[in-house]
Amino acid sequence: MTIEVDVLTWLAFALRWFHVIAGIAWIGASFYFIWLDLSLITPSAERDRRGISGELWAIHGGGIYEVGKYRTHPTPMPKHLHWFKWEAYSTWLSGTALLIIVYYVQSDAYLVGPDLWARSPAAAVAASVFYLAAALAVYELIMRKIARTVALQLGLMVPFVVLLSFLAFETFAARAAMLHVGAALATMMAANVFLVIIPAQKAFVSAIERGEDPPVDRATAAKQRSTQNNYLTLPVLLCMLSTHAAFIYGHAVAWLFVPAFALVAAYARHYFNEKHAGRHRPMILVVAAAAFVALVLLLGIETRKEATTSTGELAPGQVAGIVARHCTGCHAASPTQPGYVVPPAGLVFVTPDDLREHRARVVTSLETQFMPLANLTAMAPDERAALLSFLGSP
Ligand code: HEC
Repeated sequence: MTIEVDVLTWLAFALRWFHVIAGIAWIGASFYFIWLDLSLITPSAERDRRGISGELWAIHGGGIYEVGKYRTHPTPMPKHLHWFKWEAYSTWLSGTALLIIVYYVQSDAYLVGPDLWARSPAAAVAASVFYLAAALAVYELIMRKIARTVALQLGLMVPFVVLLSFLAFETFAARAAMLHVGAALATMMAANVFLVIIPAQKAFVSAIERGEDPPVDRATAAKQRSTQNNYLTLPVLLCMLSTHAAFIYGHAVAWLFVPAFALVAAYARHYFNEKHAGRHRPMILVVAAAAFVALVLLLGIETRKEATTSTGELAPGQVAGIVARHCTGCHAASPTQPGYVVPPAGLVFVTPDDLREHRARVVTSLETQFMPLANLTAMAPDERAALLSFLGSP
């Protein structure tokens, strides 16, 4: 008996699982507190006298909860104050570990591509580290030196994300590019917690302990960062799901579509913020949904135009030869490509009919040039066109 374990694959899987759980905890806490803050109502006279500025009653899991938010702080300060920070830190740390295991360790397969700024696997890794660090530095510059008001801060994020997206798609393979936009935004979110929100809360608590007034400017900055995080949540999730969105990142101007979808997502989030604060503006959701559909239609037009080039007569056996040369090395029950133990994604492609069986996924993977992975087998454009034509695309 032999036991075959692909350590990297399992490590990536375990990390991704952890990352999703941590992310749910972070975003869940964040959504909850945004909702809570915007839903507080005027407290009873008795609680008002105790320094409580807003209250809320809720039922959950069979119990009734009573929440009160203090104007500044209770006296004496509670012994146990729960801090929400590890949700954010563990999400960022596990995401970074995942980035390293998937995109840095396997940089030759996932990060590089033809006609890109990052050509060698090592240069691509260096470019990725620089990209994320520079994105954070520019973000801090915008938040600390350039934009003072929340409206301006949110407004400047739009051209900034377009620029980030453009640079990512010029530098990295398309799938990695979309993920990098998300990783840059997620790094800003984690930094908002680590560099501003938590330090502001520490300053707040220690000022109270010294019997001084809490510093107002730091509290304002923390609130601004938390607003940024609130609007960034949905765009980040969009980019993190990029693996499943070849139809977006595979587009010729994907660098514009990614920020466009992100903007729609942030705008949809705005509806919920308004709603929590008691302002029902369903038109926001209607506009966001209409914009989403418009973007989907725009994506579709271009794809169809490109695909019409791939028709032509196919000699018998030609398709079988292409599959054998360019797919079977990896996609076989026992792959011959070094480093492969099992068929990737569980897909075995030995005969042309195997391709037909998974037609939709194969067409997407070929049209977006995701497959053959990193074009390791040096598949020629006319071979790609021949396979697409065999599969009846369009
Ligand atoms: C060098 C190895 C390699 C070669 C050659 C290769 N693939 Fe893949 N393929 C992979 C790997 C690895 C994955 C899993 C990618 C992932 O999800 O990270 C994959 C996944 C796929 C998927 C699933 C994508 C999805 O998520 O829907 C399809 C479809 C696919 N390959 C088709 C093909 C076709 C068709 C060919 C031949 C033209 C081919 N592959 C050649 C390695 C390869």
